[in-house]
Amino acid sequence: MPSRKPIVGGNWKMYTTQDAAAGLARDVAAGLIAGTGEGAGVEVVVFPPFPYLLTVGAVLRERGGPVALGGQDVWTQPEGAFTGEVSGEMLRDCGCTHALVGHSERRHVLGESDELVGEKLRAALSAGLHAVLCVGEKLDEREGGRTDAVNERQLRAALAGVGAGDLSRVVIAYEPVWAIGTGKTATPEDAQRAHAAIRAVVASMYDADAAEAIRIQYGGSVKPGNAAELFAQPDIDGGLIGGASLQASDFLAICGAAGGSAR
Ligand code: PGA
Repeated sequence: MPSRKPIVGGNWKMYTTQDAAAGLARDVAAGLIAGTGEGAGVEVVVFPPFPYLLTVGAVLRERGGPVALGGQDVWTQPEGAFTGEVSGEMLRDCGCTHALVGHSERRHVLGESDELVGEKLRAALSAGLHAVLCVGEKLDEREGGRTDAVNERQLRAALAGVGAGDLSRVVIAYEPVWAIGTGKTATPEDAQRAHAAIRAVVASMYDADAAEAIRIQYGGSVKPGNAAELFAQPDIDGGLIGGASLQASDFLAICGAAGGSAR
């Protein structure tokens, strides 16, 4: 039987102020310590906006660290003339252990290609970060029966050149684009089917053990009311949470649901 610790990410996107971010981090860390004994059974990461990373990192350190810190994106090079970009090394320097790559808003609002996402993934790993690789289909792709093909294309492009040793620092987030921020969620059965297909792609690129070990989060309108049934699915290992991560009580309830699904 697989033994995968569920992981829940809070993607704060371009929300909060510095004060609100500090308060949210404080409430999440305190709630986890109080509720689940230092977050037992679930790994929790928050992804604040870049300008607030140091502030949020300081709050999390002060609380004794059941919550990890991540950047919402990462550039492909360690340094250089790339105005406005942030490297994996800079994220590490600011206390981050994780980075998101290939979030659908980066792919579809900002036009990032599969190849660029792959370069970012490799850059995050070579900086020593854990990477959360987001994949997922758009509504027309789903309606055209291309969900698995799109996920496979995105996975193969991103993981090309990532060795088996580094794969242990990759988490996959399956986020159907039509479910993000829309209040529409994949049914647990549909999400499970997509997750199983993603795991099969990892098995074909690496091996059965790597596929069993990798964690695949679900993302897209996860709320306290639907988290438990999603996380109960055998191939769903926690979630990547947008809107509901901005309310500590909602986010903590979702973390609790993931902890309860630990296997
Ligand atoms: P949502 O966002 O929970 O607001 O749908 C998820 C995400 O974008 O990661």
